Amino acid sequence: MSKKLVAYFSASGVTAGVAKTLAEAAGADLYEIRPETPYTDADLNWMDQNSRSSVEMKDPDSRPAIAGDIPDVRDYDVIFLGFPIWWYTAPTIIKTFLESGDFAGKTIFLFATSGSSGLGHIAKDLQPVCPGAVIRDGKLLNGRQTRDGLAKWVESLGV
Ligand SMILES: Cc1cc2nc3c(=O)[nH]c(=O)nc-3n(C[C@H](O)[C@H](O)[C@H](O)COP(=O)(O)O)c2cc1C
Repeated sequence: MSKKLVAYFSASGVTAGVAKTLAEAAGADLYEIRPETPYTDADLNWMDQNSRSSVEMKDPDSRPAIAGDIPDVRDYDVIFLGFPIWWYTAPTIIKTFLESGDFAGKTIFLFATSGSSGLGHIAKDLQPVCPGAVIRDGKLLNGRQTRDGLAKWVESLGV
């Protein structure tokens, strides 16, 4: 069986919930991408164009630092990478994560939660930061996700 990692960032807990269920369903290790400086409510205010998240998302070079050790992705065959959708794409800390290790030859399935936006062009947005990886659209996991439902989804991927 392939060795799987569920890596996720979650600013307010929603993605964290589905990531845990997905890791159980997939028999995967679980890793939280934790920002060195946690996001406050003010940081997350998308109505304020000067808030931290607004400033980061407008800056293509933004790479917020990750706290602690990052697992060696070479130990895994498949990585499920999850995050909240911010401004129709992935938070820039996801780029920090993808640049932190050697993803060459790895298959990455994206998953996300959002107010309503889908994964859209996110795989395309992330590909340049890990050119050797195969990034596949996974699933938008809004709403209640059961372990059985997610296990069926993982099974359908054939990984
Ligand atoms: C800065 C910011 C930008 C957001 N942009 C979008 C967006 O473009 N589309 C959308 O549907 N939801 C958007 N949301 C809502 C989040 O994607 C949604 O609440 C998500 O489930 C939060 O996940 P978390 O609790 O794991 O952080 C945004 C939230 C924040 C804080």
